[in-house]
Amino acid sequence: MPVSLSPIQLLQALPLASGQSLPCRILPGPMHGVTEGSFLRVMTERCWTRCWWTPFLRISTAVPRPARLRNWLKPYLDTGLPVIAQIMGCSSSKLAAAAKALHDIGCLCVDLNCSCPSATVIGNGGGGACLQEPGWIRDTIMAMRENCPGKVISVKIRAGFDSSAELPAILAAIREAAPDFVTLHYRCVSEMYRPITQGLQRLKLARELLPELPLVGSGDLFTAADAIQMQQQCGVDAVAPARGLLANPALLQHISLYCQGKEVPQLTEQDKLRFLCDLAESKESSPNTPNGFLLRFCASLMGQTSNTFQELLKRPKLLESYNYLQQRCQDMAANQQQRITS
Ligand SMILES: Cc1cc2nc3c(=O)[nH]c(=O)nc-3n(C[C@H](O)[C@H](O)[C@H](O)COP(=O)(O)O)c2cc1C
Repeated sequence: MPVSLSPIQLLQALPLASGQSLPCRILPGPMHGVTEGSFLRVMTERCWTRCWWTPFLRISTAVPRPARLRNWLKPYLDTGLPVIAQIMGCSSSKLAAAAKALHDIGCLCVDLNCSCPSATVIGNGGGGACLQEPGWIRDTIMAMRENCPGKVISVKIRAGFDSSAELPAILAAIREAAPDFVTLHYRCVSEMYRPITQGLQRLKLARELLPELPLVGSGDLFTAADAIQMQQQCGVDAVAPARGLLANPALLQHISLYCQGKEVPQLTEQDKLRFLCDLAESKESSPNTPNGFLLRFCASLMGQTSNTFQELLKRPKLLESYNYLQQRCQDMAANQQQRITS
């Protein structure tokens, strides 16, 4: 299939078979331990994303009660943006029941995780382990669809469990179930997060094998140019950068500017400090919470050798980290003001 897509298309809403649509085609890839807590508020306030995609919720022994599901989804729904709620598990009927409950609470889409490579998840037969049974994936999507008529259902996969040779059979099963969209992280489960060379070819193959289903591409999208290259070379309908958001939380916005042919600004030192400071502001957690989440962002935004990272290491509680960052932001603003007036 010849691919000739304009980057501008990534700025449009993505219409789906259920009659609804995704608000945009530049999506924040779900990340357990990252796309949570204060990150949601800080990103939403800056308009750096136009929707949210939750990390997976494991549906194991029983479908959680509606109150628990509502509690889990609340931080995402509270942003006011459309939400893709991701679930994982082994029981098709429980997953279908959970999908209905989550749709009733108000998410835009329920996404089935068949991609997680964590040893614990695989050991429990969920996530990426499901790729070994394409028929199960088909039946589960169908059960979710049947339980949620007219609602958006999607699936996130990797290119195979052991090998990408499994991809055609996986896609054939998914095509039969016809979810509203499919997300492919182009690595196999066995490849974890190691560098691979065939990623874009795998996505291109998926495009050929799923001609009528919206396809979201995932894998090593660290810059706006990476996103456009994936769209152009593979013909994906949408992109979902994940780890790139740690190094550049404005990445989705930067991809959007790039698509419009506009200049893409670099985040300044002040932008980064302000971002970290807002992240540390403990509206969502107690001030005594350890600052591990913050340190992780600081390491990828500024580097572990940066003065800021070293100073945060000395202040392991969120509140003391916040006070430090707040002071740094104030000093920086005062210096700037002085430079303007002198
Ligand atoms: C820390 C971390 C947590 C993740 N958690 C999830 C998750 O809960 N659900 C999911 O579908 N993918 C998850 N992913 C996978 C990402 O969404 C994405 O598919 C993968 O990282 C490849 O994209 P990237 O190279 O742009 O990071 C996670 C990735 C990372 C690094």
